[in-house]
Amino acid sequence: MIRSIRVIGIGMGDPAHVTGEAARALATVDVFLVADKGEATADLVAARQAVCDALIPADHAYRLVEVADPRRGPDAERDDTAYGRGVRDWHAARVAAYAEVIEALPAGESTVGFLVWGDPAFYDSTIRIVDALVEHWAARGLAVEHDVVAGISAPQLLAARHRIPLNRIGAPIHVTTGRRLVDEYDPALGDVVVMLDGRLACAELADAFPDLELFWGAYLGTPDELLVRGRLGDVVGEVQRVRADARERHGWVMDTYLLRPTADAAAAGPPAFPPTGPLGDGVLTVRPFTVADWEVLRDEHNNEESLRWDFEGRPVNDAEARRRTALSVRGWRLGRVARFVMVDAATGRPAGTIGVMRVGPPGTGLVGYGVLPDFRGRGFTTRALRLVSRWAFDEAGLARLELGHKVGNEASGRAAARAGFRAEGRLSGRLPNPDGTRSDEIYYSLVRGEPTS
Ligand SMILES: C[S@@+](CC[C@H](N)C(=O)[O-])C[C@H]1O[C@@H](n2cnc3c(N)ncnc32)[C@H](O)[C@@H]1O
Repeated sequence: MIRSIRVIGIGMGDPAHVTGEAARALATVDVFLVADKGEATADLVAARQAVCDALIPADHAYRLVEVADPRRGPDAERDDTAYGRGVRDWHAARVAAYAEVIEALPAGESTVGFLVWGDPAFYDSTIRIVDALVEHWAARGLAVEHDVVAGISAPQLLAARHRIPLNRIGAPIHVTTGRRLVDEYDPALGDVVVMLDGRLACAELADAFPDLELFWGAYLGTPDELLVRGRLGDVVGEVQRVRADARERHGWVMDTYLLRPTADAAAAGPPAFPPTGPLGDGVLTVRPFTVADWEVLRDEHNNEESLRWDFEGRPVNDAEARRRTALSVRGWRLGRVARFVMVDAATGRPAGTIGVMRVGPPGTGLVGYGVLPDFRGRGFTTRALRLVSRWAFDEAGLARLELGHKVGNEASGRAAARAGFRAEGRLSGRLPNPDGTRSDEIYYSLVRGEPTS
């Protein structure tokens, strides 16, 4: 009867990649379950057998049992919802197939092992399936232990083969799939590792970002290993050819790559907003948002007056407020939005928020603001608009600021006019209302050089 399940990362198929801890774990397993995914992965099943043959002592009896893998639909043609549903159904079918095989094992075979390609932490469902199996038996009163042993993953081996670290100093690494790459690519992500890419999606980025540096590797850790490194625009054609030839020879290809922005590519977006300390006029101070300021964002949004003019008219919860605040902080670095907290100089209490979002033609910023209920009627919006406008023109290099309010929210317009903004017109049906209707917007602007009072 089943007692324990071990999930063991075995690296890229070469027994030399199996860690000492994993080798010791292998020698405790009675039955290894291997998904049989058809002929295309026969080589991978053979590689798993080779790892076991090489590392499990001759006096330890074990066997490999192939479990027919349920069929899975064509992922690339699905949208995210259908993709998620398809993967969940597929997992459920796999759990059922494994449970059936394990429950039929003879009494002496109580430790089951799953040999995971690379490391179980990277794009592998085994841990989720084992969790579901453990739950399945727990619901029937049977406690089954399980553990996970790490292996060497494809991104690690890619980095080692190219003799590079995956990240640059102090910078993050973004790991994604070929399916998502083109939609989510942005040089601001930094170093991007791409796995599970059946079509070499980086080819679709080559025209827009030819200067990215590509570090590509296929069949890593096997005798057929292939490596290419170079400027994306220069080497993408070569990688496509090498990859097509290899697929022809093997019937399948497994590759992983890193896209590293050069300094030029990273600078392709708008310039970051310049850092600034607090700006003040003696009565009000504005200072850049930090992630700790999420409660100001929440409280400025979640009050009757703000919700009355909101597009959706629904309060944000704490998690949403934290997420929006984190995006604002990141937006400053990306040059997308400069968001400030208004602070009452007399008490040091947060009084509201004001932000400038880069929009439309270069040099244009859209201003948004809101004051907390306790501080309304004290002219804080006008003060904040003057402080931030001066900063936007003098420090951030903007040439024109715009703002607008729904028809009816005249107090907002009066505060803007006192800070020098000029009403420029009425834009029909521009702003959504919570009930599905739309309101006209009164639009204002202030151009660099115009007085702010
Ligand atoms: C299902 S994921 C499994 C990843 C694995 N758990 C790991 O730690 O690398 C399969 C993807 O891993 C990458 N991969 C696996 N083996 C590879 C190899 N030998 N060479 C290059 N990439 C490989 C490919 O991106 C492939 O599409």
